[in-house]
Amino acid sequence: MADANEQVPEKPPFPGFDVSKPSIARTYDYLLGGKDNFAVDRAFGDKFITDLPGSRQIAPDNRGALIRAVREIVSNTPVRQFVDLGSGLPTADNVHQVAQRYAPDAKVVYADNDPIVLAHGRALLAENDNTTVIQADLRDPKAIFDHEETRRLIDFTQPVGVIFSATLHHVNDDEDPAALVRFWYDRIPSGSYVFISHFRSENDPRSQELEQVLQGSLGRGRWRTDEQILALYGDGFTVVEPGLVPAVQWRNPEAPDELSEWQGLIAAVLAVKD
Ligand SMILES: C[S@@+](CC[C@H](N)C(=O)[O-])C[C@H]1O[C@@H](n2cnc3c(N)ncnc32)[C@H](O)[C@@H]1O
Repeated sequence: MADANEQVPEKPPFPGFDVSKPSIARTYDYLLGGKDNFAVDRAFGDKFITDLPGSRQIAPDNRGALIRAVREIVSNTPVRQFVDLGSGLPTADNVHQVAQRYAPDAKVVYADNDPIVLAHGRALLAENDNTTVIQADLRDPKAIFDHEETRRLIDFTQPVGVIFSATLHHVNDDEDPAALVRFWYDRIPSGSYVFISHFRSENDPRSQELEQVLQGSLGRGRWRTDEQILALYGDGFTVVEPGLVPAVQWRNPEAPDELSEWQGLIAAVLAVKD
């Protein structure tokens, strides 16, 4: 008989998941209140919840800005197709659900390198011909651009919405995140939009604390200044109102007047290709 105190190792529901170390996608899911995560992710997420109380708010603030950006793009521009790079696990409201609420024929390609996203995304999208999820690394944009599913859904002669939501801060400086934005810039027509949300340092010592926690566990997670975040766009873009602001304040009439000390540490910005 098994010892009652013996820890039974958690088994992944699909082969190929590494449950010995936390994953960004699963930890973010945990911080958003989702259930697609494992003990190792919850232990990592709890570091933010208990050691840096209030920092968890970064996750829903980010997600809220993404949802508003998609809604604004579909409501106010001709863009009807999106490439969502580092899309994350399905959650309460997903890009295709928001876009298709306003434009039922909107098309979305989700790409993420975490196998759990593919597993859960496929289940969510089974009934939706206008949406797909591919397992790919956003640092290899050509693989995403050339992917047959991307080719099936996205017409690159028409404006596209390219989404880098809480992903470029997982790309280290020596991996040249600006070159990733430039790759898509070179392939989308004028009138296309690029959304970026990003860890924002503003020289706040708390951002250094957070950076140390992330780098210590994941080897990734860069808090950048506003100038560095805007520089990711390079030339040929016009940033739209209200510019780069804390994510919770990005086109949010319900944003609180006073932000918590953590809420300034995640920014959102939307720009249109000239
Ligand atoms: C914090 S989550 C953000 C999810 C979603 N974009 C959002 O804003 O709600 C970061 C996501 O980026 C994915 N990611 C990180 N690095 C990646 C890479 N090199 N290629 C593809 N996906 C990546 C992670 O797997 C995770 O799902």
